[in-house]
Amino acid sequence: MADKILSLAKRRGFVFPSSEIYGGAGSTWDFGPLGVELKNNVKRAWWRSMVQLRDDIVGLDAAILMHPRVWEASGHVENFIDPLVDCRSCKHRFRIDELPDGERLIDAWRAGSVDLSSIACPRCGQKQLTVPRKFNLMFKTHVGPVEDSASVAWLRPETAQGIYVDFENVQQSARRKIPFGIAQIGKAFRNEITPGNFLYRSLEFEQMEMQYFVRPDDAAARFEEWKAERMRWYVSLGIPEAKLRFREHAGGELAHYAKAAVDIEFAYPFGWKELEGIHNRSDWDLRRHSEYSGKDLSYFEEATKDKFIPHVVETSGGADRGTYAFLLAAYDEEPDKEGIRTVLRLHPALAPHKVAVLPLSKNEKLTPLAREVWASVRGHVMTTYDETQAIGRRYRRQDEVGTPLCVTVDFDSLEDRAVTIRERDSMAQVRVPIAELTERLRERLPGC
Ligand code: GAP
Repeated sequence: MADKILSLAKRRGFVFPSSEIYGGAGSTWDFGPLGVELKNNVKRAWWRSMVQLRDDIVGLDAAILMHPRVWEASGHVENFIDPLVDCRSCKHRFRIDELPDGERLIDAWRAGSVDLSSIACPRCGQKQLTVPRKFNLMFKTHVGPVEDSASVAWLRPETAQGIYVDFENVQQSARRKIPFGIAQIGKAFRNEITPGNFLYRSLEFEQMEMQYFVRPDDAAARFEEWKAERMRWYVSLGIPEAKLRFREHAGGELAHYAKAAVDIEFAYPFGWKELEGIHNRSDWDLRRHSEYSGKDLSYFEEATKDKFIPHVVETSGGADRGTYAFLLAAYDEEPDKEGIRTVLRLHPALAPHKVAVLPLSKNEKLTPLAREVWASVRGHVMTTYDETQAIGRRYRRQDEVGTPLCVTVDFDSLEDRAVTIRERDSMAQVRVPIAELTERLRERLPGC
């Protein structure tokens, strides 16, 4: 399945390897004409459910480059590290959780008592692994012409910190009372040691994160609410419940900032893996930023006269990992009279193109009307137009990229000013007057 999606993604212009003409940049990806539409739709659907439809969440777009002290306060300089080992024999490099019995080894490493002398390299079988060394996952750069320790800057490894440092600006300018949330979509960067599995783990990716600020005694209940809400969101956009599950993090596995954490996992072709993390971050971030910046970020609650550092429940999803999961869940093949029909059963809100306008054939009599129909629809929803090859081939082409509706203009259309709407999933066809077309399309495109 992963291979089929990879090939479809390349062939139809969803995703290309970055810098491919130079042999690829490795674990970085470019979204092509259809991919950018799909990923934008994933982000738009998230923003709609997290900001537009809620009266308790506002948006933010913070800078990627931040003051370097941010990453000391957040704990990333000290703790955002992977333990790395090299095999002296085959020179392969591993994170120690990738070795057999990796979870136990990680726990032992955290406790300072890991011993790898009896562990065989999973690649070559030799027992020649080095002592683990710490590797910080943040990309380092320098601001200005001098590359010294005073000019260090980091590419953010999560968008969340931009929200914390702007907490007071947002709360006061948007006149918000706790509980309320701040949502953000943006790029994050991680120098992953073992990237791979296509969009699943890359060096540069987009996060869709929301930090919900609450009273300390409200955090546990809100954590449960957000778990349910985020699961509902994936299901509402077409991922079958059977392909999703929760996985609680065990104590030793928790990130340095987390008091409790649960992953929403998706059944990827390479196993159940994290799609989104939901974290109870307690007052870790705002407390640390108060300490490191000298700016008191505590909140005064008028109703109770309580003053406290807000606690945070975070929902943190990946736009790329999400896009990949939506693609995988939507991919379907079914037998038909020409062999196999490949269909991307994407939710209409996610489909790159909602409507394809297709003249029955490339004929000079049909083209003007087909283009007129196309012009009448394209102002309302994202559309495409295709007039090359037989109509059956063109339907298949649209099915394969998930276009929910095709509108066919035929020779009768010239007489009766009506066209045929053909549905991707059922392949049912219905004739409608051109005058009513946009209304009939809208009825069939919920949430678009
Ligand atoms: N702010 C919390 C945080 O960043 P995380 O579990 O490390 O938590 C959240 O990351 C989400 O970001 C993941 O669930 C995943 O969707 C996405 N993500 C993380 N690392 C990624 C990578 N290397 N490539 C693609 N997506 C990634």
